[in-house]
Amino acid sequence: MAHLTEMLDLDAEVLHEYHREVISWVGSLTPGRPHVVDIGAGTGTGSLALAGQLPDARITAVDVDETLLEHLRSRAAERGVADRIRTVRADLDHAWPELDPADLVWASASMHHMADPGQIVARVRETLRPGGLFAITELDSFPRFLPDPAGAALEERCHAALAAHRAEAGLHMHEDWGTLLAKTGFTVEAERHFDIDLRPPLPPAAARYAQISLQRARHGLAGALSPEDLAALDEITAAIPERTDLTVRAARSVWLARRPV
Ligand SMILES: C[S@@+](CC[C@H](N)C(=O)[O-])C[C@H]1O[C@@H](n2cnc3c(N)ncnc32)[C@H](O)[C@@H]1O
Repeated sequence: MAHLTEMLDLDAEVLHEYHREVISWVGSLTPGRPHVVDIGAGTGTGSLALAGQLPDARITAVDVDETLLEHLRSRAAERGVADRIRTVRADLDHAWPELDPADLVWASASMHHMADPGQIVARVRETLRPGGLFAITELDSFPRFLPDPAGAALEERCHAALAAHRAEAGLHMHEDWGTLLAKTGFTVEAERHFDIDLRPPLPPAAARYAQISLQRARHGLAGALSPEDLAALDEITAAIPERTDLTVRAARSVWLARRPV
């Protein structure tokens, strides 16, 4: 769990240009004094960024995981926005908490975790005021860090094995969110794709992000890769802090949809 907390925060730090662009775009379309609901808020990277972008926003951050919410609350206090962010622990696959009508529902990298995304989209529609916005951001691909051919090929084998795991676990990684939103009565106003390609020299946070991502991948890979690949992965992961050639290559998509008035 400690690694997940750190990884979510590092994702926001290392991919800050992408996050800033999306937050300022979505923020610019949000009315004054909005109520924002962040579903699957995690450590609050979205809630905190939206609180910064929208100084008169009130934010409700919902997550199933109390440890992540605790971290969110302490970061909100550090940034002086704790009075505008309320956290709610709830498993959104089950009974939804009482939520005030929302002007914006924000779901960053959380929709693919939900057991029944269609049901969640319908609940979001009920939660939004007429004219309110629903922003879904998702990962088209998990980040790649290793630029050398052998490392990149190993990384591809890791990603293929992890993708098989996720499919088996029923995660909705490549859902057609635009079609689902339209089917649920939303007007899809935009679908944008972002290719992220960060090259060296990168700040130390990027190396730490790479190391934690590879460690987390390793955790899910025992038995799925050959012993040689696992040993090579361990060696590469341990040596990450010394490397100066790392890259961060990732692809993200954002859907912005409106509940019709
Ligand atoms: C990949 S993290 C994304 C966190 C955050 N939105 C971000 O962009 O950094 C997915 C989050 O969804 C939460 N989550 C998964 N299933 C959930 C559910 N059924 N109800 C509420 N939260 C859920 C997880 O606890 C986790 O914090």
